[in-house]
This record gives sequence, C-alpha cells and structure tokens, in this order.
Amino acid sequence: MAILPIFEVPHPLLKQVSEPVARVDDRVRRLLDDMAETMYAAPGVGLAAVQVGVLERILVAAVPIRDGVADEEEDDAEAGTKAFLTELINPVIVRREDVILYDEGCLSVPDLVVEVERSRIIEIEALDRHGEPFRFEARNFYAVIFQHEIDHLDGNTIYERMGPLKRRLYLKKIQKQRVRDGERPQNGAPV
Ligand code: NI
Repeated sequence: MAILPIFEVPHPLLKQVSEPVARVDDRVRRLLDDMAETMYAAPGVGLAAVQVGVLERILVAAVPIRDGVADEEEDDAEAGTKAFLTELINPVIVRREDVILYDEGCLSVPDLVVEVERSRIIEIEALDRHGEPFRFEARNFYAVIFQHEIDHLDGNTIYERMGPLKRRLYLKKIQKQRVRDGERPQNGAPV
C-alpha cells in the first residue's frame, strides 16, 4: 500500500471526465488499497481516483454500509477512520429524493468550504472490488459524500461552484500560502 499525492486545483486533470472501469482486476484492487490509505492519511472522508491522477470511475469513502443503507448514526464517531470503508467502481445514482444543503470541503481544494445543494437520499448501483454489482441507499451526510465524489468522476469540484472572481481570489490566497510554506507556486502541479 502507498500514500499517493493528491492533485489540487487548478490542475486540469480534475476537470476531466473519468472513464468506466472495464475489468476489475488486481490493478484496480491495488489502486483501491492505495486510495483508502491516502484518504485516511489526509485525513479525508472520501476520495475519487481522479484526485490521485487516475481517470477511472473509482472512489472510496470512510463510511459504513449497514443492511444496505449508509446513514450516519450516533455511534459513528469512527467515520473517517480505518474502521469504515466503502469502495465503489463505476457508481451510478439511480434514485434521488429530497434536498439537503451542506457545507463541503475537498482535499483537492484546500482551505475552502462551499455550501452545496444535494439530494438528501440517493440510491447507488456500483461494482465491488470483485466486480460484483451491488446497490445501496445513502442518506444525509453520507449521501452528500457520495455525490461529492461522483461529481469528481464527472470533472466537477466545489471550486467550479464559485464565481470567477471568488476563484481568482482563492487561487491567489493558495499560491501565497504555498510560497510561505516554502513551496514554489507550480501552475497546476499536484502538491
Ligand atoms: Ni473532493
């Protein structure tokens, strides 16, 4: 297992649409393992393959599915830790219900929180790490996480949800921070 570098805006790869996985093999399973390790180390609650530079429809989330439902429970203090992992290959949202507003952050858009309107309940079909199809329902915060990650697979981030002026101000702030942290401001390179 390996911790992979996470690409950050404005890297052009993050705007590309990821391709479906044709065959779930050892290569895909290795990528899933590395993505999970990268997500836990960040730390984050979700990660899409494009964020580590792989344009395939694969994502991981540090949430549990219990009896076909992913919904936050009172004892979910361990959400975001290695206690929980959901892996999705070629996920598709097949049903949506209701609306929820949520303040979202993103590992590829550091130090930014954007309020996003999402479906409050969704049903997802996907393949597991053995290539077997499965289906589950996600609700509330966990539904938000999966919609955020599936957005990544379609080349969308919370960065695109800001207006052009806000985007420019944000990039200026981030580049200043990178200089202060002793990093060269690299145009679009992963840091
Ligand atoms: Ni994200």
